[in-house]
Amino acid sequence: MIINGQKFHTIWSDGNNQETVKIIDQQKLPFEFSIKTLKTFSDSYTAIKDMTVRGAPLIGVTAAYGIYLALCNYNSEIPLQKFIHLKCDEMKTARPTAVNLAFAVDEMKNTLKNIEEWDLAKQLAFKKAEELKQLEIDYCNSIGNFGVQLIEELSKKKKGETVNILTHCNAGWLACIDWGTATAPIYKAHEKGINIHVWVDETRPRNQGSKLTAFELSQMGVDHTVITDNTGGHLMQHGMVDLVVVGSDRTTRTGDVCNKIGTYLKALAAFDNNVPFYVALPSSSFDFSITDGIKEIPIEKREANEVKFMEGKGGKAQVVPDGSKIANYGFDVTPARLVTGIITEKGICNANEEGISTLFKK
Ligand code: MRU
Repeated sequence: MIINGQKFHTIWSDGNNQETVKIIDQQKLPFEFSIKTLKTFSDSYTAIKDMTVRGAPLIGVTAAYGIYLALCNYNSEIPLQKFIHLKCDEMKTARPTAVNLAFAVDEMKNTLKNIEEWDLAKQLAFKKAEELKQLEIDYCNSIGNFGVQLIEELSKKKKGETVNILTHCNAGWLACIDWGTATAPIYKAHEKGINIHVWVDETRPRNQGSKLTAFELSQMGVDHTVITDNTGGHLMQHGMVDLVVVGSDRTTRTGDVCNKIGTYLKALAAFDNNVPFYVALPSSSFDFSITDGIKEIPIEKREANEVKFMEGKGGKAQVVPDGSKIANYGFDVTPARLVTGIITEKGICNANEEGISTLFKK
């Protein structure tokens, strides 16, 4: 995707020094565009934990490169296989909710299984991290090709009038490597010249919507409007939303969708107003081992200061009085019954075990 007219991915290996990895610093966007270099395992771990990179697919790919960087700095103090296992287990603790983290780390672990030679382990780890990156690009591209059909149908139904799409958080290319999940159908529709307009939830407390999604859409020239998190229901009651598309950090095999806090309330409003509510996700965001999202998905609780202060251009301001208690839940679960359909790299399916298993047999 494009930033200031130049094509970027969110993460890439440095051609001049392959033992480093570059990322876009998402803490600074949209007011400053800055590239950071990761040199060690702990650089990658910290980048995930402090949300310099964020978004489920990007967290996974950063973790994969992090395992590679760990091997680059291996000093033989402990046996190689033990070292790989320790680093893989540690990396999984960086953030709890997005299952892509465990998915990518397990892929790395499998690739490195039984390898005893350090140089070979390094080579294989690099190759696998690059493969996982490409896989996520291909998944998002394919999600876009399937999802755009929904927008095309709505556009036809509206005889070419603007299709209004609401999205929450940033499930855009910044959350992935390229294209995004929820935004891929939007970018494909834009490329096809379909009239679209995007309602962007600001997504408190970290404002991934107003800071990141709005930034992406501006850079790509897609018409959009930022709204506060509480506006969507009102717009739906007035026929101003034709479609809701969001991403997911973890979806059960029965179609319960975990995504950024506030997604559930949008799904309720969409259900009440007969607005189609779709979730776009790659197979790396499915947790096929669980069936009950509300009971089984770990919900990240983040620092109180993210709520207590608002950060933006010009600095930080306190918006909660000293002494008030603060709770900062990062994600919520939307039960499958509220989800119209799931857009995956293999096609669109119903949000239930039967629908999902027709696309993902295992
Ligand atoms: O806390 P974040 O910014 O990592 O959360 C991201 C989201 O919730 C996205 O909507 C989700 O990861 C889907 S990403 C394609």
